[in-house]
Amino acid sequence: MSDSPVSDSAVSGSPVSDCPVPEGNSVTIDLAALPEGFLWGTATSAYQIEGAVAEDGRSPSIWDTFSHTPGKIDNDDHGDVACDHYHRWREDIELMRQLATNAYRLSIAWPRVLPGGDGPVNAKGLDFYDALVDGLLDAGIAPSVTLYHWDLPQVLQDRGGWPVRDTAHHLASYAAVVAERLGDRVHHWTTLNEPLCSAWIGHLEGQMAPGLTDLSAAVRASYHLLLGHGLAAQAIRAAAPGAQVGIVNNLSVVEAATERPEDIAAARRLDGHTNRWWLDPVHGRDFPEDMREVYGVELPEKPGDLETIAQPLDWLGLNYYFSSTVADDPTGPAPRVRTVRRPGAPRTGMNWEIDASGMESLLLRLTHDYDARKLYVTENGSAYPDVVRPDGTVNDPERQEYLISHLAACASAARKGAPLAGYFAWSLLDNFEWAYGYDKRFGLVHVDYRTQVRTIKGSGYRYADIIRTHTARSRSAA
Ligand code: IFM
Repeated sequence: MSDSPVSDSAVSGSPVSDCPVPEGNSVTIDLAALPEGFLWGTATSAYQIEGAVAEDGRSPSIWDTFSHTPGKIDNDDHGDVACDHYHRWREDIELMRQLATNAYRLSIAWPRVLPGGDGPVNAKGLDFYDALVDGLLDAGIAPSVTLYHWDLPQVLQDRGGWPVRDTAHHLASYAAVVAERLGDRVHHWTTLNEPLCSAWIGHLEGQMAPGLTDLSAAVRASYHLLLGHGLAAQAIRAAAPGAQVGIVNNLSVVEAATERPEDIAAARRLDGHTNRWWLDPVHGRDFPEDMREVYGVELPEKPGDLETIAQPLDWLGLNYYFSSTVADDPTGPAPRVRTVRRPGAPRTGMNWEIDASGMESLLLRLTHDYDARKLYVTENGSAYPDVVRPDGTVNDPERQEYLISHLAACASAARKGAPLAGYFAWSLLDNFEWAYGYDKRFGLVHVDYRTQVRTIKGSGYRYADIIRTHTARSRSAA
């Protein structure tokens, strides 16, 4: 059996053979299904990699506050230094080049650019991103910029945070500042990353900043996040005509644990909570009626909001990690479901169930049910407890297998008509995995947090190999 995961001959020159795909892996990626010009990228976010939290005028975000609250994060880790990307970004661009990527999804730290949340701009904060964007372009890597990846300036939290309407308007002002400065070079913009996590995990489950467990606050936060998305999309387009604007959601295929009507209804509720609540309004379909009933919280609606939320989208971003199987949990908090482990289902180091076919179904669902014009997989990846071997390499066969099976699912969706235009691996680097701290390693590149030494893992070489093969194939087809 060949260990090449692609249906064209693998490109030599990378140490792929040192890092074999596990025995028995027979998945091949139908690279011919992926279009020419496909974006092959990696993704990160500001708080997870930058460090330098008190440098050059940055103010604290809700994640500085949360991570410095004892007991909130495993090992009491925090992002004070993280991967020190703020100082090492040139080295990190070089790594992206070695991975053969042609795109990079980064997020901007709002408290670096507007330390007061709104009002005066911190020139040094914007200068950092300006230089980063230039560095990427010089390396032939297209920047894809996310405005909000969860690091709300703490000053805005002190004024009520996402449960209050003003925060949506502040997001738009911040979007305008960033788009005015970078919009001549950045064409690909994301308003929000995974608003589900900000609203549900941050305000309902309490495991992410700001750490609330308040259904009413969570529902209001979800509403204002989506309103902020619409306002920010308008602001980006006003500042940077021609900008390609989208939103990124983490979606999941939800299955009922049994055929009991209660479990089927529970699966429908989790689908509403995870998928439809975030997709329907931005497509002009209003917030799902069944979920309004489940939450029983009045939305802070004003005339015209739905039109604002439903700005035309140039593309939709899918972050995909796992699928979910659930049963009814009548006494649990909204949406009253309980996750059920499918016996024998393979899991990553996050204990997330691996199901590449779920990603294919979601890409097709976005294509058919939401008429997506263009799709990107904006995040996909897996955490495992990697170690640097005595010979200096990092062998991560499980991650390679995960990567290959999910790329195969992308290609299969594209073959069936999904307008997939790019894939961003999560993540470029091992980084601060929120409430899990630094123990969960998602990178294609290993980071030794003590020395900040970076080591490309087997999966990184594997990814480069796949990208080079696709590029060579596109060239020869042209
Ligand atoms: O690390 C996160 C990222 O910030 C958002 N999407 C999921 C990743 C893995 O949990």
